[in-house]
Amino acid sequence: MICSGREKACIDAAVKLIRSGEVVAFPTETVYGLGADALNESAVRKIFEVKKRPFFDPLIVHVGSSGDLDRVCEEVPTEALKLIKRFWPGPLTLVLRKKNRVPSVVTAGLDTVAVRMPRHLMALALIKNSECCIAAPSANRFQSMSPTTAEAVQKELGDDVGLIVDGGPCLVGMESTVVSFEGDVNILRVGGIAVEDIEEVLGRIVPVVKKVKTVEAPGMLEFHYAPRKPLSLVSKEELRKVSKKQTKGASLLVFSKVERKSFEDSGFKEIIVLSERGSMDEAAKNFFATLRQMDESNAEKIFALKVPEERLGLAINDRLKKAQHE
Ligand code: TXA
Ligand code: MG
Repeated sequence: MICSGREKACIDAAVKLIRSGEVVAFPTETVYGLGADALNESAVRKIFEVKKRPFFDPLIVHVGSSGDLDRVCEEVPTEALKLIKRFWPGPLTLVLRKKNRVPSVVTAGLDTVAVRMPRHLMALALIKNSECCIAAPSANRFQSMSPTTAEAVQKELGDDVGLIVDGGPCLVGMESTVVSFEGDVNILRVGGIAVEDIEEVLGRIVPVVKKVKTVEAPGMLEFHYAPRKPLSLVSKEELRKVSKKQTKGASLLVFSKVERKSFEDSGFKEIIVLSERGSMDEAAKNFFATLRQMDESNAEKIFALKVPEERLGLAINDRLKKAQHE
């Protein structure tokens, strides 16, 4: 069932479910999450069941304030505090030493826990009123695309989730940036906070870690975010070499109207633009909903042109790369 998070009864019902160890889908500024009480092991197991997610992939714990950090993690490094001060509430997840009380099902047996404070009033109300830290992955089936509307959650999970709190379309539209403080500072996943902004706050280069294909490194899976249709991520040069025979039944995804203009005559069935005016934030906000739409259209294949490698463009290209079926 979908209810409007603007109504008190809806939030109250969601709070009641969280407190009784059930799962609830709820909006955040990045994407919709599928949440349960992070300190209740059997509740957290239900998230994995609904998502059909393997237990080696750890979850993010959502807190209501930076003061809640000591409920789930040990001492916080100075550089992590700097990032918290600048970016919380917001799309930044920190991987920190976990407290023993965090069930290992949340962290896939790792000694670390991923934590973030979301910037969405309904998510914060859910956390605060339930007095819980809420473990939540994106509210889609394993390896599918993250949902950015309540309707997309409904399509993904159907009746397997009892309640979906509707908060409208997500404003950032891209999952959080995940930063690890194990050893040196590293970015494990590019996302809603630009790498440039993190580097500015810390005053140094912060490396983005390459993804791996094995289950040896939980949280580092390569294949993810995939539409059902075949998708090819290409550069402009590669796109110019694609034959009309191939473009005929395919749709093309591009960043702005500039790219649409240059490939207008390539014979694509349709060309979809992420942001007419070329705004990277708008492109990120529209990204998942657009990809879902293209997956449902009657084109046979999707070509996606790489977006500029700057700010949230890194996250868009990363998701597109992982959406390719190899
Ligand atoms: O924006 C977001 O982060 C959304 C909303 C709902 O908050 N959540 C989200 O969760 O994208 P999920 O589960 O789809 O992605 C969590 C990422 C995964 O890549 C996971 O492996 C990684 O965080 N992660 C979680 N705990 C970790 C840990 N202890 N060490 C390394 N990576 C971890
Ligand atoms: Mg996900």
